[in-house]
Amino acid sequence: MSVTVTHRGPIAVVTIDNPPVNALSLAVRTQLFALVEALDADEHVRAIVLTGGGKLFVGGADITEFGRPVELPSLPALIERIENAAKPWIAAVRGAALGGGLELALGCHRRVATAEARFALPEINLGIIPGSGGTQRLPRLIGIETAIRVAAENLTLDGTRAAELGFIDRLVQEPLVDAAEAFALEALSRPLPEPASRRPLATPAATAWEEATQRIGRAARGASAPLRALEALRFGAENGFEAGLANERAIFLELRASDESAALRYLFFAERAAPRPAGLRGIAALPLASAGVIGGGTMGVGIAAALRNAGIPVVLVERDEQSLERGLTALKAIFEAARKRASLSEEEAEARMRGVTGAVGYEALAGCDLVIEAVFEDLAVKRDVFATLGRVCRPDAILATNTSYIDPRQIAEGLPHPDRFIGLHFFSPAQVMKLLEIVPIPETRPEVLATGFELARRLGKVPVRSGICDGFIGNRILRRYRAEAEAMVRDGVAPSAIDAAMRGFGYAMGPFEMQDMAGLDISFLHREAARARGEAIAETPGDLLVRAGRKGQKSGGGWYDYAPGNRTPIPSPDAARLIAPLVGAPLELAPDRIVARLIDAMALEGQAILDEGIAGSPSDIDLVEVHGYGFPRRHGGPMFLSSRQPS
Ligand code: COA
Repeated sequence: MSVTVTHRGPIAVVTIDNPPVNALSLAVRTQLFALVEALDADEHVRAIVLTGGGKLFVGGADITEFGRPVELPSLPALIERIENAAKPWIAAVRGAALGGGLELALGCHRRVATAEARFALPEINLGIIPGSGGTQRLPRLIGIETAIRVAAENLTLDGTRAAELGFIDRLVQEPLVDAAEAFALEALSRPLPEPASRRPLATPAATAWEEATQRIGRAARGASAPLRALEALRFGAENGFEAGLANERAIFLELRASDESAALRYLFFAERAAPRPAGLRGIAALPLASAGVIGGGTMGVGIAAALRNAGIPVVLVERDEQSLERGLTALKAIFEAARKRASLSEEEAEARMRGVTGAVGYEALAGCDLVIEAVFEDLAVKRDVFATLGRVCRPDAILATNTSYIDPRQIAEGLPHPDRFIGLHFFSPAQVMKLLEIVPIPETRPEVLATGFELARRLGKVPVRSGICDGFIGNRILRRYRAEAEAMVRDGVAPSAIDAAMRGFGYAMGPFEMQDMAGLDISFLHREAARARGEAIAETPGDLLVRAGRKGQKSGGGWYDYAPGNRTPIPSPDAARLIAPLVGAPLELAPDRIVARLIDAMALEGQAILDEGIAGSPSDIDLVEVHGYGFPRRHGGPMFLSSRQPS
């Protein structure tokens, strides 16, 4: 880490060099603070250019410091000192100026940036709000409405937009520091603008605040920081800069100490660590220029879409023309929907489809670097597929199964070169869900495993390595979660009470609503198969429902009833009657007790998974739950939560 000064005539250039993201760590703040003093006193210096070394300005406050008490000089104090410096400070921005980085630029008297620079206040993603004047200075420069979008709704401004809004005084080109120096020299003859803190701010009508509250509250889905950011903006607009700054800091410090922020920071670091597991350091991934997908069902099509979204050419294979046509139509519909949402242009949507070759028969896969099988969950069917792939594909092509339950070692039995075999478990819809469980078999070569992680990176997925067990990490925990929910029903708790408690906790859906949507029959068939193998699995309420034809929404009812054409669950007297033989006297449990019981069950299963070496770390398990199963991000994950409970 270093903060360096170079002198160019009357201009001092201060460069923050704190790789990887020039975070404003204590040492950086200390040096910068001392430099403001020193440069104020240096009679040769007339203006200061402040910039970041490397590709970006400043990525923000140092998040690793957030678990500890604030050490002085604090960032607000540093920014105030710069604002009150005797000489003008000019921020010169390329790349990202995020969070504390944007706030630092706000404290400068002038700002230049490249058109591609990015300005954002992403604090709400970490469960906090800007704590160094972001909610107070920014609206005084760009107006309250856009400031609300930036501070409470994650809007990123590029340099061009920031210049239009008057936040950036001049758009410049590389070399940045030369351009900033020229700007600084030129500006010497002009009077200094009012610092951001002293500029007036028009207060919007109360209705505008109400409207923003509604909009932000809806989008936040239970997270507290976005509305607190709005509160800070409003307080400052109505009570003036000084009071606004103090209030912002108080909210920041309160949230910084919250469980929610601790959970979100934990996930921030877990997500960044996931793509680079320690065991694969130094192992290069294999080339991945083309991929094949076998199976044009929902899963295969989703995987093909994910591959195309990452620019990888895809061969989609089905067993007959009709199935292939259906698969290609479904794939086209995915890109068409993206075009309608305006997340894809017409040309891009067409290009995505142009990169897909549909084929009946496996010969078209002969040149692929990777083939992912996504056919019916049946061992014999899958074995057949791989026997053919073993003959048709290059011997060095990576062959992957997307199985969710079947032991991949059995699928790979008899495959020539099993060292190129791997499980790649996607989650539906595969073009959307971020989780990718990567399941090597004992023979899998490290380079093949590394390619799985590289594929995840290219697809924008969160990779988690899983050992082999029934259901791998995610579905094994899901089974335990469902079993515990059913156990509560047997204890007399209404399914609707359990669902409501889990929705209150932050899930989009409770366990019974989810089962109704996905269908109760698949897990029923699993239990039946296990029973047929002689395993002692007691009758469950779910069994009674399926036996009575209640398989979920697809059969018009499951745990709940549904009006035709409507997916709103209605508590069902019929279902209650059917499961009554297995259910105890009605029992009312408080929502937090329901949640605690289900989270405990998940964490216990997670612990067993760790003890067996199936998962490498508690945070891997939490990433699985958050990115594959809708666990509310603001709670971190079952392992995180249970680690914070007093034992
Ligand atoms: N404080 C401390 N460490 C940080 C950090 C911060 N504000 N921002 C990023 N890092 C670390 C990451 O943990 C990662 O560390 P690792 O290499 O040990 O895993 C490293 O910097 C690189 O981050 P990564 O996100 O992988 O790099 P990137 O080039 O894809 O993205 C950023 C860079 C700055 C855009 C991105 O890291 C980011 O969004 N950071 C958070 C910004 C933020 O929320 N700031 C507000 C805090 S006030």
